[in-house]
Amino acid sequence: MKKRVAILISGRGSNMGALVAAAKAPDYPAAIVAIIANKADAGGLDTARNEGIPAFAIPHRDYASKRDHEIAISAALKAAGAEIVCLAGYMRIMSPEFVGEWEGRMLNIHPSLLPLFKGLHTHEQALEAGVRVHGCTVHFVTAGMDEGPIIAQTAIRVDVDDTAETLAQRVLSVEHATYAEALALVASGKARMQGGRTIFAT
Ligand code: GAR
Repeated sequence: MKKRVAILISGRGSNMGALVAAAKAPDYPAAIVAIIANKADAGGLDTARNEGIPAFAIPHRDYASKRDHEIAISAALKAAGAEIVCLAGYMRIMSPEFVGEWEGRMLNIHPSLLPLFKGLHTHEQALEAGVRVHGCTVHFVTAGMDEGPIIAQTAIRVDVDDTAETLAQRVLSVEHATYAEALALVASGKARMQGGRTIFAT
């Protein structure tokens, strides 16, 4: 049985698109059942609708508090029958309650080789630090921002003439396959979170 996956986005949703594309393979262990954005104008919503996937906005601005918004998101995830939640450029910091509800079942992609360069402007941070490799990480979501157990990473070289923009483009181009691989590992049970670590089936 394919695992039912919902994806939360805030913007263009290219990682979402990559997961939707990967899930079209008959032997992929996950099916994408819903796309939810916290902004009505998130470009990824149209991409998802064009693919025939239920896609809608639950704008955080419509709710009096972060918690009220999260309760609405949770209700929508449950209504969609989601078993796994993928954050794909979802730019909201979540409460410990929400994270706890989805512990071990919520994934995030971050544009750096964690634990380096948490937060925003990761490509600028990498250039500032002078690292010669950079990349992306897919991890389980835990209460600490960008801190959860790592499922998959891909590294790229930093070229001497790289700017934050060229790095962002090259990292994004490896994010897509990395996320599809990480979701397959979790959906198939080959990677799971236990005791604050990722356990891989051998
Ligand atoms: C991606 O680069 C993703 O790694 C990043 O936002 C971008 C979303 O692009 N996420 C974060 O920075 C989370 N901390 P996309 O909407 O085209 O997938």
